[in-house]
Amino acid sequence: MKKRISIFASGGGSNAQVFFEHFLGNEDIEIVSVFTNNKSAGVIERAKTFNIPVHVYNRTFWSDGEVPITLLKEQQVDYIVLAGFMLLIPEPIVSLYSDKIFNIHPALLPKFGGQGMYGSHVHEAVKSAGEKQSGISIHLVNEEYDKGRIIYQEACQIEPSDSAQDIASKVLKLEHKNYAKVVESYIRKST
Ligand code: GRF
Repeated sequence: MKKRISIFASGGGSNAQVFFEHFLGNEDIEIVSVFTNNKSAGVIERAKTFNIPVHVYNRTFWSDGEVPITLLKEQQVDYIVLAGFMLLIPEPIVSLYSDKIFNIHPALLPKFGGQGMYGSHVHEAVKSAGEKQSGISIHLVNEEYDKGRIIYQEACQIEPSDSAQDIASKVLKLEHKNYAKVVESYIRKST
């Protein structure tokens, strides 16, 4: 039976797009749905292009996890990929999907992680700290922001002249190059 992934995203969805493309026609793994808490998220249009159903729900829906769990079970979801999802995953979902939820953080954890460290905040903090490197961290998700076990990291160099935006662009390239591949390899090893 194919392994079934649901993607949770709140924003533009460029990483989600890479997943849609990467798993298109894959014989063993498929993207079956997208969940978002943002009705204006760019990921909605991207998913429609691939005929992937999108579920839009407000913050209250996410707060205890019971209703999302019912839907995830109905869709027989095996793995969850967070691709720029802005809300903390409720404990019941983390327990049910223990070691089966992935996140990507746009910095080299454990530095520059935790609550409030998202989007441009991360790259500005990296720049202000005068770091010579940044990069990506792909990790499993637990009940705390950015604290789950890291399964892959890759670094990129930062030049002194790089702005926070330049750092963001370098990191996003690494995200697109690695996230779907690392998730695929993890799933294949676990089955
Ligand atoms: C990425 O930078 C990712 O690291 C972070 O959220 C951003 C999502 O970007 N978790 P996009 O919506 O995939 O373009």
